[in-house]
Amino acid sequence: PRTYLVTGAASGIGRATADLLRAQGHTVIGADLKDSDISADLAAPEGRAELVARTRELTGGRLDAVVACAGIAHFDPRTVRVNHFGAVATLEGLRPLLAAGDAPRALVIGSIDAVHPTDEAIVEAALAGDEQAAVAAAQEAVDRGEGHLAYSSSKAAISRWVRRAAVTADWAGAGIPLNAVGPGVVVTPMTEPLLADPEMRPLVEQSVPMPLHGHAAPEDLAPLIAWLTSPENTLVTGQIVFADGGADAVLRGDAV
Ligand code: NAI
Repeated sequence: PRTYLVTGAASGIGRATADLLRAQGHTVIGADLKDSDISADLAAPEGRAELVARTRELTGGRLDAVVACAGIAHFDPRTVRVNHFGAVATLEGLRPLLAAGDAPRALVIGSIDAVHPTDEAIVEAALAGDEQAAVAAAQEAVDRGEGHLAYSSSKAAISRWVRRAAVTADWAGAGIPLNAVGPGVVVTPMTEPLLADPEMRPLVEQSVPMPLHGHAAPEDLAPLIAWLTSPENTLVTGQIVFADGGADAVLRGDAV
């Protein structure tokens, strides 16, 4: 049995992943705003530090895998704080614990939205590690009526961060595969309100076409996440694995 840390474990994809891993006999430490083993707000430095400190306490400093699922889709700068900076802090903060683990693996949930239009000012600031500048750029997008770019930009940034970081001495050099899974539309508390809105639903369906099986359930993602973070995955790293019912192939079929 392995020891996993899953953020966003109280709902949706994180909860389905934690449930599957526990059913497979692994130990899962869940983290979320509430209703989890560790309560921590990953939008803020204190919560990020709390996550690492509590995980260290609960594991004795050894962790086999990290799955960063915590995320929000609000049209405001907090989305960049949680989805990019919270995820980077989770992965970087727990990397020393992974380095002490057995067949260590790391994964973050990206999104098909990363291939949608983004705000490069947000993405560049995020990749430079400048949270203040990224948040300011997101606020500017909100102010000009383009708050939706906060979400796509946060997901583009974390995806590009994964591709850059995965091949460095810290990750590949330490033998730790680091990947993202990019879902299409998954029916969770994040998307249920959108899908129930008769004006929004057609826009969602148009922007994320899913010719195979339509919208997903969180349980559809969990086996892929479990495999990518299992010892069987010795080769896949630095990838954004779209698990999207064909959306990426429809939107960018010629990008290989
Ligand atoms: P969800 O809303 O069901 O679960 C997200 C969890 O993250 C919640 O339990 C929430 O409390 C937690 N969380 C939010 N902010 C947090 C913070 N500041 N600190 C700690 N925990 C926090 O949503 P879902 O759909 O399971 O989303 C999981 C991930 O998948 C997110 O990163 C989301 O962006 C991504 N995703 C979801 C898609 C969908 O269609 N549902 C599509 C593509 C990506």
